[in-house]
Amino acid sequence: MIDADLAIVDASELVTVRGEAPRLGAALSDLGIIQRGCLAARDGRIVFVGDGRDYRRQVRLGRSGVEIDATGRTVLPGFVDPHTHLPFAGSREHEFEMALGGATYEEIAAGGGGIQSTVEATRGATYDALVELGKVRLNRMLLHGTTTAEAKSGYGLTLDDELKQLRVLQALDSIHPIDLVPTFLGAHVVPQERRRDREAYVREVIERMIPEVARQRLARFCDVFVEEIAFTPEEAERILRSAADHGLGLRVHADQLRDSGGALLAARLGAASADHLEHAGLEGIRALARSGTTAVLLPGASFFIGSRAPGLGRRLVEAQVPVAVATDFNPGTCPTEAMPAILPLACLDGGLSPAAAVVAATLHAAHSLGLASRVGSLEVGKSADIQILEVPNHLHLVYHFGVNHCRTVVKQGRVVVEEGVIAGTAPGAPSGNGSTGKPLGGFRP
Ligand code: NIG
Ligand code: FE
Repeated sequence: MIDADLAIVDASELVTVRGEAPRLGAALSDLGIIQRGCLAARDGRIVFVGDGRDYRRQVRLGRSGVEIDATGRTVLPGFVDPHTHLPFAGSREHEFEMALGGATYEEIAAGGGGIQSTVEATRGATYDALVELGKVRLNRMLLHGTTTAEAKSGYGLTLDDELKQLRVLQALDSIHPIDLVPTFLGAHVVPQERRRDREAYVREVIERMIPEVARQRLARFCDVFVEEIAFTPEEAERILRSAADHGLGLRVHADQLRDSGGALLAARLGAASADHLEHAGLEGIRALARSGTTAVLLPGASFFIGSRAPGLGRRLVEAQVPVAVATDFNPGTCPTEAMPAILPLACLDGGLSPAAAVVAATLHAAHSLGLASRVGSLEVGKSADIQILEVPNHLHLVYHFGVNHCRTVVKQGRVVVEEGVIAGTAPGAPSGNGSTGKPLGGFRP
């Protein structure tokens, strides 16, 4: 018998997403669905996945074990959100209103708005204030089914302010159920006060910031925004090569506003991901396929700033590029923490099938973060990071859009969201493990 301390039984669809990452071609539509599926976990790891008959024959749930009835519901791996700009202060709803009135993203940035205004707000915020803001946002993510998220600095743009953002991420990772993968984005833009000598800023990123971030082990990846309003491919290449020399993995904000050579650069450097890609050309896409770099689609951002790229996801899939999908949660181009807001866009705008969107938001997202052996699918040995939706199949994630179907979230075998409420936070509930005090064994790769 297999001993377990958590079981989820009789799901109308148990979407396992089992299999090797990355999945290309036809493998993308195989979600490994088990009807009337059951899953069991022990000590935070999955120990059984199968149908009801085998579950009843093979699994023994301990006396204090938790059994969740998923009748009529869909069980999925927790979402992995592989691109967020989580630690910032302020918000930019007034710029958004200007944008609705016709101003472009670049015009707003040129007028001192955009990223620079969030840099000022973030520099002005204390570490404690950023931690508090982060908790609220992570709770929102968790309530929408996200159990692992990448998070970037990039609104500090001085050594101290970048370190402050990364330390905030370290603190949030230690107190919140969501596991965070930190990325250093000191090369987001050249900050206003350094624009007269951008070369000096690039050198500072390379010579001071990256070595210090690496020395303090505050980031696992380094990202650069390659764009006319940010960094040239040449500058980005110097920064990213230095990051790789310091043991950081590479990610690139590539070809978001125009074809700036970002995809080609990401491929040439063997980056883990190239993100955005709305304006990537065929050459760039083919290069990504050859290098095995994951394309992270951010259809929420392109929707929000009106630079949609119809069919981009489908073209990437056809070119055999591994495709992931992310929120790009940030105050300028995509102020939502919710992965379920993004999946319909990945299908309706990006041309992905619902099955491909699910793989993109779980297994491929985990793959792009180097975590596919631990999270992103429901398989024996992986972390029990699970969401339960109150719909009978996964198609509702795309079809029945604009509402949150997620009712239950399990992180490393512990129930952290119960019937749509963070565990322990309902009125009268015993003090729980949802938003305060990381209850989990520190799932650090
Ligand atoms: O991913 N493209 C650059 N960075 C963000 C936007 C950040 C902002 O506008 O504050 C993005 O879209
Ligand atoms: Fe981004």
